[in-house]
Order: sequence, then structure tokens, then C-alpha cells
Amino acid sequence: MRHDEHNVTSIGNAAQLALAKLERGGALSDEDWDSLPERAPGPTITERAAPRVDALVAAGWPKRYVVDASAVVADWPLITRCERWHVSGYAKSILILAGGVGSGKSTAATWWGVSRGPRGTSYLTAERFAALSRYEVDDRSRWERVGGLVLDDVGVEYLDGKGAALGALEALVERFYADVKPLLITTNLTRDGFVERVGGDGSRIVSRLRGAGSWFGTQDKDHRRSG
Ligand SMILES: Nc1ncnc2c1ncn2[C@@H]1O[C@H](COP(=O)(O)OP(=O)(O)OP(=O)(O)O)[C@@H](O)[C@H]1O
Ligand SMILES: [Mg+2]
Repeated sequence: MRHDEHNVTSIGNAAQLALAKLERGGALSDEDWDSLPERAPGPTITERAAPRVDALVAAGWPKRYVVDASAVVADWPLITRCERWHVSGYAKSILILAGGVGSGKSTAATWWGVSRGPRGTSYLTAERFAALSRYEVDDRSRWERVGGLVLDDVGVEYLDGKGAALGALEALVERFYADVKPLLITTNLTRDGFVERVGGDGSRIVSRLRGAGSWFGTQDKDHRRSG
């Protein structure tokens, strides 16, 4: 028996289904990934994609969004908006993607970050950033130095009464504004809700967004499917 034949017979049913899904360009679930052997038989897409997925996950990108982003429908409005933003050279350096639950914001933001963003583009949830802002100023300022940033889900984070979380967000926005670095924010909030959330019309954040920001709202419904 040849070596590769042996490998083929040794991978399970679940792994074969997962591989077939990958070959069709479909997104894999966590279970699919887990079912795959360390070395897939033959030079499959898996072999080429897996080390990159691992590296992105190690760099802080959420595995689900990385996998989803590898199989995006390229002409979805959120994706084409990110592409246009990139092609414009980030003329407006802050882009806000707004839309309902499951409309594809995190996927589009991750697609941009891993395939278009400048070197060192990183991913952070607003919730994590707000938590850091309360206790760890050094760790927080690290995020101001990255080349590009996805700040996911602004509006769900806890805002402390002393204003530390909002102050940290203001410092972050100022850094990206001043350095003309791309900052991609996602939110479930409406435009008015967002403005109110970040301090209101006359606030330092809203003023910077007016100068360097672009708002893109999608009406898409929840694309998450069961199974
Ligand atoms: N461009 C795309 N092509 C194909 N599928 C997509 C695309 N964008 C998103 N999806 C699918 O839609 C679902 C929801 O996407 P995502 O998690 O990005 O939504 P979201 O807007 O971030 O939601 P939430 O507001 O809950 O955070 C996922 O299952 C994802 O695979
Ligand atoms: Mg999301």
C-alpha cells in the first residue's frame, strides 16, 4: 500500500466531509476544523490554509471570523465597502460598519483586517478594550500603536461611571485620527445611538469622526444559520 493511500483510509468520515466542504469553498465550523487530521492527505486547500488560520488565531483574530472570512461572498455590500475603503487609501481613516445582529460586520471587518489591512492590523473587542482601560493603561496604549485596528462591537461594552472607558476610546480614536491609520469600528447601534454613546454631538470623538470618519449602515438581516 502506498503511503498516501494509507493516509486516505485513516481519516474519518467527519474529516472527509469537512475537506469536501473546504474544497467547495464553504466555511468550516469548529467541529469541522477539529475533525481534520494534523496532515491532510495530499496537497489539499486545508494544508495551505491551516497554518495561516493558526497564525492569525495566535495573533488574536477570532477563529470563527477568520474561517468565515476565508469564504465570504465578495459582492456583499459590507465587503465591497471595506474594499473601497482600502482602495481609497483610507482617505477617511475611520470606517464604522453598522447593522443588526448577524448582518456580517465581524466577518467583513476580519476579512478586511487579514486580507487588506496594513501590516500589524489587529483585532480587539470594545468590551475587552473597555476592561483594559479601567485597570491597565500600558496594555491599553499598546493598541494605539498597531498599524490598523478592528474594534468590534462598540456599544455593548460596560461604561464605568468615572468615564475611564470613554476616555480610553477617545484616546484611541485620537491616535488613529492623528496618525491617519485605519480604524474599523463595528456596532449594532443606530447612527444617533452611536453619537449619543460616544459622548454626544459636541464631543471630541464625534468631532473627529466628522472630520475623518465614514458611516456605513447595512439593512441586512441575520445571516447566521443553524447547523
Ligand atoms: N460576506 C459574507 N459572505 C457569506 N457569509 C457571510 C458574509 N458575511 C457574513 N456571513 C455570515 O453571516 C453570519 C453572521 O456574520 P457576523 O458574525 O459577521 O455578523 P455580525 O454582524 O458581526 O453580528 P453581531 O452583530 O451579532 O456581532 C456568519 O455565519 C457569517 O458566516
Ligand atoms: Mg459581530
